[in-house]
Amino acid sequence: MNLFRLDASIRTDGSHSRQIADLVEHEWTDVHPESRIIRRPIGTEPLPSDAWASAAYAAYAAFTPEDQRTQTQIDALGLAAALVDELVEADALLFAVPLYNFGVSQHFKTYVDLVTTDPRMAAGGSPALIGKPAVLVTVRGGAYGSGTPREGWDHATPWMRRILEDVWQLDVRTVEAEFTLVGVNPALDEFRDLAAQMREDAEATARSHGRALASHSSIGAEVRDQGTR
Ligand SMILES: Cc1cc2nc3c(=O)[nH]c(=O)nc-3n(C[C@H](O)[C@H](O)[C@H](O)COP(=O)(O)O)c2cc1C
Repeated sequence: MNLFRLDASIRTDGSHSRQIADLVEHEWTDVHPESRIIRRPIGTEPLPSDAWASAAYAAYAAFTPEDQRTQTQIDALGLAAALVDELVEADALLFAVPLYNFGVSQHFKTYVDLVTTDPRMAAGGSPALIGKPAVLVTVRGGAYGSGTPREGWDHATPWMRRILEDVWQLDVRTVEAEFTLVGVNPALDEFRDLAAQMREDAEATARSHGRALASHSSIGAEVRDQGTR
């Protein structure tokens, strides 16, 4: 059993998305202690930002036959294939991605763009990951709920869900934690109690989704084993 884990936070110390994803991972390893964790820390070890353009140019923007591809294009397509291999090899997927500048982390966008250049994951096709269980952990410094001044300003979560749920067709459970900047930004001090409650709720959801991820994957592996007998 393998768990794939992607972290898009640009920091390690004090990262809320990592702490919450750790809870999901903990539940997973509780059930699958021998499992391999395939880590892709794109926030601290970013993918080259020009790889997508090279891969996309070769694969479809100006479709280049294999024998005419440049070394840069070959390397970019190789990187995309390696990223998709990690997803295919995993029995379950965990994505931890914060909100940055009201949009999706540039590192996660680069990751998704690159993965999508691989024929196994091309948009409009039949993705190689259909039905695979996944958890998306996302955290935001502020709050964007209904009736708040910034309602509608979170342009990351709907996009990430669209990609993971509808384009890649994963079986996704989402954990969201808001107000992670309470305690850091004094302007948010009045929301301390609310932030603490939100954090508690997010941690409970993370544990519950972690358990579901582990049991869902066990059932999937059993079905696959039966199919190969
Ligand atoms: C460069 C930068 C931009 C950010 N932009 C936003 C933002 O637009 N909205 C928001 O609610 N929080 C924003 N934040 C706060 C992060 O979402 C918050 O600190 C989150 O906890 C970061 O994830 P981490 O704790 O896993 O590192 C930003 C943080 C950074 C460093």
